[in-house]
Amino acid sequence: VKLQDIDPAKVSVTKTTTPKELVPQNELVFGRSFTDHMLSLEWTASEGWLPARITPYQNLSLDPASCVFHYAFECFEGMKAYKDKQGKVRLFRPTKNMARMNKSSARIALPTFDGAAMIQLIAQFAAMEERFISSTRGYSLYLRPTMIGTQRTLGVGPPGSALLYVIASPVGPYYPTGFKAVSLEATDYAVRAWPGGVGDKKLGANYAPCILPQLEAAKRGFHQNLWLFGEEEFVTEVGTMNMFVALKNKQGQKELVTAPLDGTILEGVTRDSILSLARERLAPEGWIISERKYTMPELAEAAKEGRLLEAFGAGTAAVVSPVRNISWKGNLVECGLRPDQEAGEITRKMLGWIEAIQYGDEEHEWSYVV
Ligand code: COI
Repeated sequence: VKLQDIDPAKVSVTKTTTPKELVPQNELVFGRSFTDHMLSLEWTASEGWLPARITPYQNLSLDPASCVFHYAFECFEGMKAYKDKQGKVRLFRPTKNMARMNKSSARIALPTFDGAAMIQLIAQFAAMEERFISSTRGYSLYLRPTMIGTQRTLGVGPPGSALLYVIASPVGPYYPTGFKAVSLEATDYAVRAWPGGVGDKKLGANYAPCILPQLEAAKRGFHQNLWLFGEEEFVTEVGTMNMFVALKNKQGQKELVTAPLDGTILEGVTRDSILSLARERLAPEGWIISERKYTMPELAEAAKEGRLLEAFGAGTAAVVSPVRNISWKGNLVECGLRPDQEAGEITRKMLGWIEAIQYGDEEHEWSYVV
């Protein structure tokens, strides 16, 4: 696929005249407050990508017939900018986010774009918002690239115009007082994604239907729901995160398992980073690193036999989120943590390894210095 050109040199910058007051670090709520500016690019079918603009953060003005409101022409990304000890701003694996966004946009007939050019623009934007980024571990600037179809039409067809914008929200640690293991409810009445569907794309339309099962789980006292698929009850994802389990297989070998990218699994950047670090750093210690299908019956059996070591969700927002247990068919499958323990060894190691790279304590090709 030929990606459509963006010229990052043509960006225009209008600075705000009313800089916001910073929200105190301990009052940051994920995705609630935003920085001073936003980055926007308009696209039309006839002209391609128009010059980028960095402007004060502001409302959009859209015709009520804009196709995004009717047929969900929307895709997005989640990525973060960090500040290292020298005060330099760093993005984490931004090429992965750009590649995934292009796959998402292409699937819903929105335009593609040159990812490298977009990274330059995002880097310029993140650098402008540098005062919102703290170098304290756990703090970062959550970046939300978003693309919408803007054509004014109720006709169902490829949008003739689109808007790509990026907003930024200063965020604190997902678990301000340290890890808190969550309890999950396996959802048996709904599926998140299916073969041949779009569950592997980051479309807004994939997320709205996730709320109800989560609320249902919450009613019964669970923090999140676990998504299963098929009669075999394959474990797929947890809430809006990829799922990992560490277990001892029947031969007694330690195995780190996550579901394979078969089209029903979001291609998480954190997922990919965990697999890569596990292959580099855990495999030499005898761990088998598996992208394979696994089922709830398999987990329940491993738990019963004391072979389920730990389980965790993985995503950009939390990095890793330890799982205490899974309610399934009226039973609680315990995921290997002692009652006094909030996270397993692999979960902790992964957070440490990934944060060291994100904050530039370890130089690594995944860290993009702005
Ligand atoms: C994640 O980072 O885990 C996400 O899925 C982002 C969420 C806010 C949509």
